[in-house]
Amino acid sequence: MAAEKQVETTGLLGWIDQRFPLTSTYKAHLSEYYAPKNFNFWYFFGSLALLVLVIQIVTGIFLVMHYKPDAERAFQSVEYIMRDVPWGWLVRYMHSTGASMFFVVVYLHMTRALLYGSYRKPRELVWIFGVAIFLCLMAEAFMGYLLPWGQMSYWGAQVIVNLFSAIPVVGPDLAILIRGDYVVSDATLNRFFSFHVIAVPLVLLGLVVAHIVALHEVGSNNPDGVEIKLKKDARGVPLDGIPFHPYYTVHDIMGVGVFLMVFTAIVFFAPEMGGYFLEYNNFVPADPLKTPAHIAPVWYFTPFYSVLRANTFNFFWLDAKLWGVIFMGAAVVILFFLPWLDKSEVKSIRYRPTLHKVIYTVFAIAFIILGYLGTQSPSPVGEVLSQVCTLIYFGFFLTMPVWSRLGEFKPVPDRVVFVPH
Ligand code: HEM
Repeated sequence: MAAEKQVETTGLLGWIDQRFPLTSTYKAHLSEYYAPKNFNFWYFFGSLALLVLVIQIVTGIFLVMHYKPDAERAFQSVEYIMRDVPWGWLVRYMHSTGASMFFVVVYLHMTRALLYGSYRKPRELVWIFGVAIFLCLMAEAFMGYLLPWGQMSYWGAQVIVNLFSAIPVVGPDLAILIRGDYVVSDATLNRFFSFHVIAVPLVLLGLVVAHIVALHEVGSNNPDGVEIKLKKDARGVPLDGIPFHPYYTVHDIMGVGVFLMVFTAIVFFAPEMGGYFLEYNNFVPADPLKTPAHIAPVWYFTPFYSVLRANTFNFFWLDAKLWGVIFMGAAVVILFFLPWLDKSEVKSIRYRPTLHKVIYTVFAIAFIILGYLGTQSPSPVGEVLSQVCTLIYFGFFLTMPVWSRLGEFKPVPDRVVFVPH
C-alpha cells in the first residue's frame, strides 16, 4: 500500500501513476534512495559499469547491421566496417575498447567490494549476482572475440574449447557440442554469434537488474562499513544518508566525464593499446592450417589462464591438463563463497589489523603477476612463479576463515566519517 500513498492524482503523471508505478519507482530508487554520504573514488565504478554496458549494447547493434557471421566473410566484413562503413571504424573501436574497459571498471568495482567488505551480510546476494555477472561477462567477451575470425580469434577458441575435452567421460562430446563440429568452424562462429548478440546479453541484463534491486533492498555499504540504516531521524531517513538524486547523479556525472576522456583518448589514439586491447595477430585472417607460435588470451583473461597453465602435476588418477581446467574454474567459483569465508569482525579495511592489509597486498600482487605471466610464452621461471602465485591466490581464500579473525581491530565509529569538501 505504501506505493499507493505516493501516487500523483492530477495531470499526465497522475494518469500514468494510476496505471504504472512511475513516481513511486523514481522515489524508491532515485530521489528517496538514501545512499551514505561518504562515498569516495571507488564508488564511481558501479555507474561506470552501467555506462559501458550501454555503450556495448548500442555499438553492438550498429556492428550487427554490417557484420556477417559466416566463416567465409566474417573477417572481410569487419574490414569493410573499418574502411567503408561511414563511422564504422569509430563504432568498432568503441566496441573493442569498451570490452577491455568493461573489465577495467569491473575489476576496480570488485576491488572496492573487497576493500570495504561490501559482500558481507546483508549484501551476500548483491555479491552473488555480481559474480554471476562476472562469469557472463567472461563468456560474452570470449564468444565476441571469435567473431572477427582472425588468427587469435580462431586459435584462442580452439585452445579454450579443447579444454572441455579434458573432462572425463562427457568431455569429448561436450567439446563437439560447443563447437558444433570437430574443429572450430563456421558452425562454431554461428552459435557464438547467436550467444554473443542475444542469449548472454539477455542474461546479463537480467542479472544487472537483480544486482541493483538486491542492493537497493538492503542499501549501499560505504568506505567505513557502517550500516547507515541503524541510525535514522524521526522521518525514518538515515542520518548519514543523502538522496541518490540529485547528489550522486551529479557526482557520478563527474566520474563519467573523466572516464569518457580516458575512453575517447584510447579510441582515437591507441585503440590497439600496444596489442593488449586488439592483438596484432588478429589482423591476420583465421587459418586453420597455421597455428600461431604464441597463443595468448586478451589481458583480462590472463590471470585465470595462468592458473590453468600453472599445474604440471598428475595428482591422483587425473592428468595435469584436467587439474588445470579444474583450478581455473575453481579460481572463479571460489568468489561465490567469499561472504562466508570472511569471518572478520569488521567490514572495512580501514578498521582491520595491519596483518589483513599485508595479506590483501600480497594477494593483489600475486593476481597481477598471474595476469602478466598469462601474456607471456611459457618459461621454466614463469612456470614456478605462476605455481607460487596460484598457491597464494587459493591460499588467500581457503585460509581466510582463520586469518580474517586474527590481529588487533580498530574500533568502528557509530556514524560514517565524512569531511565536507
Ligand atoms: C555489468 C556489470 C556490473 C554493473 C553494471 C554493476 C552495477 C552496480 C551498481 C550501479 C552499484 C551501486 C553503485 C556502486 O556501489 O558502485 C553496484 C554495487 C555493487 N556491486 Fe556491482 N555491478 C556490476 C558488476 C559487479 C561484479 C562483477 C561484482 C562482484 C563480483 C559486483 C559487486 C557489487 C557489490 C558488492 C556492490 C555493493 C557495493 C557497496 O554497497 O559498497 N558488481 N554495482
